[in-house]
Amino acid sequence: MNVSMNGIVKSFGANDVLRNVDFSVKGGEICALLGENGAGKSTLMNILGGVIRPDQGTILLDGKKHAFHSPAQSLDAGIAFIHQELNLINDLPVYENMFIGREKRKLGFIDHQGELEETRALFSQLGIEIAPETPVSALDASYKQIVEISRALMMKASIIIMDEPTTSLTDPEIERVFDMLRTLKKQDVGIIFISHKLREVMEICDTYAVLRDGVLVSSGEVKDTSIAQLSRDMVGHDVRTAPLGRIDAIGEEALRLEKLTLEPYFRNVSLSVHFGEVLGVTGLLGDGRSELFRAVFGDLNGYRGRVVLEARPVQIKSIRHALRLGIGYLPRNRKENAIIKDMDILDNGTIVRYKKCKRLGLISRKKQLESFDKQKKELLIKMGDPSDPISSLSGGNQQKVVLAKWLMTEPKILILDNPTQGVDVGAKEEIYDIILRLAKRGVAVVVLSNEAQEIIRVCDRALVMYHGDVVSEVFGCTMNEQNIMRLATGG
Ligand SMILES: Nc1ncnc2c1ncn2[C@@H]1O[C@H](COP(=O)(O)OP(=O)(O)OP(=O)(O)O)[C@@H](O)[C@H]1O
Ligand SMILES: [Mg+2]
Repeated sequence: MNVSMNGIVKSFGANDVLRNVDFSVKGGEICALLGENGAGKSTLMNILGGVIRPDQGTILLDGKKHAFHSPAQSLDAGIAFIHQELNLINDLPVYENMFIGREKRKLGFIDHQGELEETRALFSQLGIEIAPETPVSALDASYKQIVEISRALMMKASIIIMDEPTTSLTDPEIERVFDMLRTLKKQDVGIIFISHKLREVMEICDTYAVLRDGVLVSSGEVKDTSIAQLSRDMVGHDVRTAPLGRIDAIGEEALRLEKLTLEPYFRNVSLSVHFGEVLGVTGLLGDGRSELFRAVFGDLNGYRGRVVLEARPVQIKSIRHALRLGIGYLPRNRKENAIIKDMDILDNGTIVRYKKCKRLGLISRKKQLESFDKQKKELLIKMGDPSDPISSLSGGNQQKVVLAKWLMTEPKILILDNPTQGVDVGAKEEIYDIILRLAKRGVAVVVLSNEAQEIIRVCDRALVMYHGDVVSEVFGCTMNEQNIMRLATGG
């Protein structure tokens, strides 16, 4: 199927998000849709997916004009949309989620057995190791993503839109998804692939289109461009990629873990991080690094071992308790753990600092605004009014709001789990700069990340975990991608 979107215009109030955009994709082609946070990528796809209506412009499918008034209409026309924000029902098992809205029926009743079997067959074909009966709530975020992708595959769509499908996946899972994409491509399915990971784009995509501030600034074949050129197209100037300066002045020990064990997640983990240091912890899915720090912060109960904070043993009971002790903790999954959907931008960005924003016992909107404004500028958050809902922000800008809120607490120790998820190339660099500045000021920073490149760029040293064990420490010349990959895969 050939899709062509012509002259698309869309504004939200005074915010002109798409200005006369032309975009097309055809069957058998993987097209990268690129641009900085807030450039208008998701909005353009929301129009194709029938989620919102354009102010102007037309959509042609195989030359025939279509106007979608709902996601169901778009799906009927053969377009499946995997959203940036996950769309699964937590209380239902995986297989039921696979059939939401198009349940299999037998004599009027939902055919659970049939749904189960079909799901099982698809999973085994794709090499997915998830039992279809598992409730979605029990799945890690990356497995949820995999379920979403397989659901779209099951719909046998002609065009699949994937809005940042790999953000919370690790390399082997990404490879698996890419294998699926290659298979689909052979079956003449067209794929629109939104990502901030340009290496992935170079690997998997055939064509590209770059949006900057709602304008299509370049498009063409991937083989005719480069990562540097794409970054330039997106940002409008060169993006620095040289190694960042290392910090030499490392202070006293800030946090020490002694033989921490919580089966089945991690065992006998000992580590220490000093003030003024950036420690990385990396590994693949199932390595236990997120659970380790969740346990330290009272979010997972029952570990054995000792946590020592500035030479004093402590038992942290909650993230709030951690905050009182001067520790900030940015959780791994923004969508599920860090954003409060019903609150506006300002409240989301200042909630952990409410105490400091109080005047005569009441929360002072003015104080909130003052402290948020500084971070907004430093992180270049692209947003409308602070009282707009958080959901009006693009994904990457939501991530920056979450980061802003933790920076405002001025922590002595800052744990960042997956800090640059969904953040564009330019903003990533801003965040790395901020991390290094914090370390220079004496903050102990721990960066948990599945991107070896990120670890290398920002950390002084890193621990590699594999199935719950710390298998190695890397620094200096041993901190390179090949070595990290080898250790992370148990090699
Ligand atoms: N429902 C909405 N109400 C108001 N503004 C919106 C709404 N949806 C999007 N916007 C605004 O439109 C602009 C483009 O957002 P969009 O989500 O399309 O960006 P994006 O390119 O997908 O960015 P990201 O890479 O961060 O996901 C942003 O300024 C955003 O705040
Ligand atoms: Mg988006």
